[in-house]
Amino acid sequence: MAKLEGKVALITGAAAGLGEGIATVYASYGAKLCMVDLSSDVEKTAEKLRKEYGAEIITYVGNVADRAQMDEAAKKTVEAFGELNIACCNAGVCRLAPFEEMTDEMRDFHIDVNIKGVWNTCKAVIPYMLKQGKGAIVIASSVTGDIVADAGEAAYAMTKAALVGLTKCLAVEYADRNIRVNCSQLGYARTPMVEKMAVESNPEDPEQAIADIAIGVPMKRLAKPTEVGELFAFLGSDESSYLTGSQIVIDGGSTLPETMSIGTN
Ligand SMILES: NC(=O)c1ccc[n+]([C@@H]2O[C@H](COP(=O)([O-])OP(=O)(O)OC[C@H]3O[C@@H](n4cnc5c(N)ncnc54)[C@H](O)[C@@H]3O)[C@@H](O)[C@H]2O)c1
Repeated sequence: MAKLEGKVALITGAAAGLGEGIATVYASYGAKLCMVDLSSDVEKTAEKLRKEYGAEIITYVGNVADRAQMDEAAKKTVEAFGELNIACCNAGVCRLAPFEEMTDEMRDFHIDVNIKGVWNTCKAVIPYMLKQGKGAIVIASSVTGDIVADAGEAAYAMTKAALVGLTKCLAVEYADRNIRVNCSQLGYARTPMVEKMAVESNPEDPEQAIADIAIGVPMKRLAKPTEVGELFAFLGSDESSYLTGSQIVIDGGSTLPETMSIGTN
């Protein structure tokens, strides 16, 4: 039996990038999905997965920053599939700017999507998980903020670090009610978000900015979205039944080197 057979998962930010990678892996392991995204492209992505894996999928076009919309997405998931076992809180945004040029509006945009979006998703799904007596939540944090940061990431780093705190508190609060909450701390994967960051970092040669990321990673490459999807599948499945409150780094070793100059290779 596939590891997510019979499980129902709600995945936010599922139209593209990592969310698409997560949805692909979930569909391949037999999960039924509600794919949520701000972009109506989510239906195209879902159609591809229905064709490829025969997966049962509904889509919901909505904004994670809007609590009522997330409540509706969770309700529609349960109406369609009878339960809601896993939530992948993946939708997030990142805009780079020097701190003195970063406006309060930019700060609030990150807080609304990256923090309140995850908060709203958890608020929407937890009542169903409590009723079922079981659930798993996987939150997309980052190595950025909690472990490392690059210049220009103040708003992004602040919000991603906050998600580690939310993960730990929800994990301890719901541990005895059988809801597990874990977060991923990803380094870099090539997605539309990272392609946009590359343009902001090096407008003349964004491809070079991406190649330079890989140089700093001991594995000399960025993650594939489906590699991140595999981690989300493990954390959502019963295989990780004794894991809660964990922050799992998935970064090809990018946070390991102490220097770029000392060593034997
Ligand atoms: N790509 C990376 O290298 C990387 C590294 C660390 C963490 N992350 C985190 O992983 C998550 C996904 O990143 P990505 O690179 O795939 O991003 P992306 O920008 O490539 O894709 C994000 C998806 O989320 C959707 N989305 C954006 N705002 C939304 C909103 N308010 N409501 C609903 N959907 C919304 C977008 O339409 C898009 O489909 C983010 O939380 C990001 O912070 C990414």
